[in-house]
Amino acid sequence: MNRRKLLKFLGVSAFSINNSMLISACTSLASKPKLNVGVSPNFNDEVTLMDGLSYYRLIKWNDIINESQNLKFGYNNDYIQLARNKNNETMMWVNHEYVVPMFVSGYNEKTGHNKTKEQIDVEKASLGGTCFKIEKVNGQWKVDPRHEDNATVNGHTKIDFSPKQKINGSSYAVGTFLNCAGGKTSWNTILTCEENYQNVVGDVFLEPKNKLKRVSSINNKLSWEAHGALPAEHYGWVVEYDPIKKTSKKLVSLGRFSHECATCVVAKDGRTVVYMGDDKVDEHIYKFIADSPGQLDRGTLYVADTINGKWRPLDYKIGEPFQSHFQDQQQMLIFTRQAAKLVGATPLDRPEDVEIHPVTGDIYVALTKNKPKGNHHGSILKISENNKDPLSLSFKAETFMGGGDTFSCPDNLAFDKKGNLWMTSDISGGSIGNSTYKKFGNNGLFCIPTQGKNAGEVIQVASAPNEAEFTGPCFSEDYKTLFLSVQHPGEKSKSLESLTSQWPHDIESKLPHPAVICIEGDFLKQMTT
Ligand code: FEO
Ligand code: CA
Ligand code: CA
Repeated sequence: MNRRKLLKFLGVSAFSINNSMLISACTSLASKPKLNVGVSPNFNDEVTLMDGLSYYRLIKWNDIINESQNLKFGYNNDYIQLARNKNNETMMWVNHEYVVPMFVSGYNEKTGHNKTKEQIDVEKASLGGTCFKIEKVNGQWKVDPRHEDNATVNGHTKIDFSPKQKINGSSYAVGTFLNCAGGKTSWNTILTCEENYQNVVGDVFLEPKNKLKRVSSINNKLSWEAHGALPAEHYGWVVEYDPIKKTSKKLVSLGRFSHECATCVVAKDGRTVVYMGDDKVDEHIYKFIADSPGQLDRGTLYVADTINGKWRPLDYKIGEPFQSHFQDQQQMLIFTRQAAKLVGATPLDRPEDVEIHPVTGDIYVALTKNKPKGNHHGSILKISENNKDPLSLSFKAETFMGGGDTFSCPDNLAFDKKGNLWMTSDISGGSIGNSTYKKFGNNGLFCIPTQGKNAGEVIQVASAPNEAEFTGPCFSEDYKTLFLSVQHPGEKSKSLESLTSQWPHDIESKLPHPAVICIEGDFLKQMTT
């Protein structure tokens, strides 16, 4: 490991470390045993895995998840989480982030026509999330499409705001969509995060003198505005879904922005703390501390000042600077980003997924990149709360690892029980293979031990099909299976006749299909036992 790489791994600058520290770190890292050789970056339209691993497909776009109601698995599967049904069986929740209109509804913006209402309805039904029972049959995971609790929550579902309140005149929103990553509570509910809602419904901004400025999405090929606008204030929230009651609600207290994820930890007094990233250039990291155990309806939202290591409360009751900018707490939460900037929130390089180290309790945040600032490869940030206490309002932040050498554009994170960090990359479909990103090949799945003799190794475990991104890494309870989404293969195809991917290659129409796969094998066993 050269000096530059070592400094990156240690997360320190060249000025804050002396040579004897370097020599001792180099010696301990040099004497470690070699792990398996990873996958070489490549441009194959396949899921390629390192030796000792294999995969099979669990479910793909349009597969039936509920036979009696004819419910289908949505498009562009992202976050994956496991929960329990009332019989204590395994339910899988999967987010469906956005559509490729040409594949999903047949809409082609080159015609110059607006989307039809029917096309918009198909797209709405393809997003949100699906929840279905899975079980092991003859040693392989299978979906049980006959289970009565299998359900979808999509762009058509009416979802109440919680705590009960009216936003823009309505006590509920129609639909959840653009659902990226998420989280899970200790009471068996799923958190699903509305990210780039502005692409389909546009956005709203608060200007001086309490004037609202609305920005339309109509020129975006994802827009749903051609047949009636939806109020942007109703989107950009975290939605809590109960797989047993089959109910959902939008959690207003967690703020409104491009929610990437909502990662939960239970503090020592039983209250839940939720860590969240806002995936936009120069936006922020937030945490929410619930007022009482077992609920996320009421509590305080904080934003990270990573320069001074402080969580800054966004609480209207404090008074200034909030009361001279907003009418009330609700308006402040609708415009969370504006409130955050009033209290010195640190602009970051697109905060994506957040995960908590199972051994040290440190919080890891993928900062994917910041193109306007010339940061093309991103980094992984580590936050250590004072006294390892998630209720603490002070913390230390440092770079855990920078991108650019072995990976670029970190996005989704997952820890296994041993504290190995699993990470997926998201080099955008239009950038894969260009000069800045060529050496990384297609997007990948990586494993980075954080402790022990192999700490700091970056092992590429898998390479994705063309233009695809791996998302939602999720381990089975026994850690024998890694569930993984293959999202947006071939999304840059110019027409149905010139497809840039045909993954998974066994579909009669030849169209690329997003799917969830199950990865199993020796390397998983080696890392997790
Ligand atoms: Fe949907 Fe921020 O990735
Ligand atoms: Ca993501
Ligand atoms: Ca992403």
